[in-house]
Amino acid sequence: TPRIAVVGAGSGYMPGVIRGLLHRADDLAGAELVFYDLDAGHLDVMTRLARNMFAARGARFTVTASTELKPALDGVDFVFTTFRPGGLAGRHLDESIPLKYGVVGQETVGPGGFLMACRSVPVLLDIARTLAEVAPDAWILNYTNPTNVVTDAVARYSDAKIIGLCDQWVGDTETWAELLGLPVEGLEIDWIGTNHGTWAERVRLNGEPIDIATRLADSAPPGAATPHRDPARMAEAGKALGLLVNSYSKYYFFHDEVVARLRDQGTTRAQDIMAMLPDYYAQVAAEAGKEDPDPSRDRGGGEHGEFAVDVICAIARDERRRFIVNTRNQGAIASLERDAIVEVPAIVGRQGPTPLVMGELPRAVRGLTHAIHEYEWLAADAAATGDERTALRALMAHPFITSMHTAEKILHEGLAAHAPHLPQF
Ligand code: G6P
Repeated sequence: TPRIAVVGAGSGYMPGVIRGLLHRADDLAGAELVFYDLDAGHLDVMTRLARNMFAARGARFTVTASTELKPALDGVDFVFTTFRPGGLAGRHLDESIPLKYGVVGQETVGPGGFLMACRSVPVLLDIARTLAEVAPDAWILNYTNPTNVVTDAVARYSDAKIIGLCDQWVGDTETWAELLGLPVEGLEIDWIGTNHGTWAERVRLNGEPIDIATRLADSAPPGAATPHRDPARMAEAGKALGLLVNSYSKYYFFHDEVVARLRDQGTTRAQDIMAMLPDYYAQVAAEAGKEDPDPSRDRGGGEHGEFAVDVICAIARDERRRFIVNTRNQGAIASLERDAIVEVPAIVGRQGPTPLVMGELPRAVRGLTHAIHEYEWLAADAAATGDERTALRALMAHPFITSMHTAEKILHEGLAAHAPHLPQF
């Protein structure tokens, strides 16, 4: 029975994570959960919520809470991270600073993602160093954004075992199932690339290959866009490229339109979330004390939680299941270096993920994927070392940035704005 630490357990995503744990309650029976967060108030709410939800559904988990990292990580088998260093206020800066200079402002891709990486990486490296002392064999399942850059930094700058998770492919698979008129059940897509920059030209339904060229040509009318799903743009770019594309590919293929829309919107995603959080936490806190709590689903987290818990089960129980994860390439994508962090299908069992050989990237997105990867490599390096020259090179390598002076301005403004969270610079 594993011991699992949740770092960032006060997060608004926790109701979804708790539901994710419940969906494998029998397989994880007896597991010890250690909830860790810096915010004692939110931590207390989520701890009570989890205990009551587990009790109501007969799940045999124990939950302890801690606001100190080392005791929380002591002897754990898994560390599941779900936190945002600098919080939503920091995310707002990531989303708004690049936009001032005509560049997409986003918390994972582009210079906003770079600034987030600079805050996330030192915290993850601290977790990795602590694990070396108190739980050297633990797996880190990282959800902290940008997951690919964070995973790369931890893989290169520590001895910790890490898998980068992102459930975007789960939602994107559902979106494509609708667009292509296919059921989600039994649908297997060979997503390959880097996080939020994945593509697929091979799709199977119950093991049978699907001819996507014909399906793309007759695709269903796209549904409405949500903050992180844009079926219309996915269909448009997908048809043009003859590929299935990740929802986040809109930032690459529709950069200027997205900048215009973000500017028109007036508020950032972080501001929209900050506006709803007080009511959300109040609802969750009210449910937490009930005998059979039913916390709000407004902050999502269900897919995110189920996916992470399924990966934990796959390792703990040596299930050898196929997931799309961020891990070392090891030849999965032919033209990327072996130790590049890529997002690819992998078989996950007791030894962790074994990436599946996928061959070559489609030609139309090969150069872009390589550019994103080289940016990510430099970003991970800069975030780990605090070297400003590498930071500038990272931004200059990014496909969004077409002027060195833009890179310099975003970098200087971003590093200054986030200074309290950037001990390495
Ligand atoms: C998607 C992305 C994640 C991101 C999340 C943010 O799931 O794949 O990388 O963290 O959206 O969601 P939010 O509701 O906070 O905007």
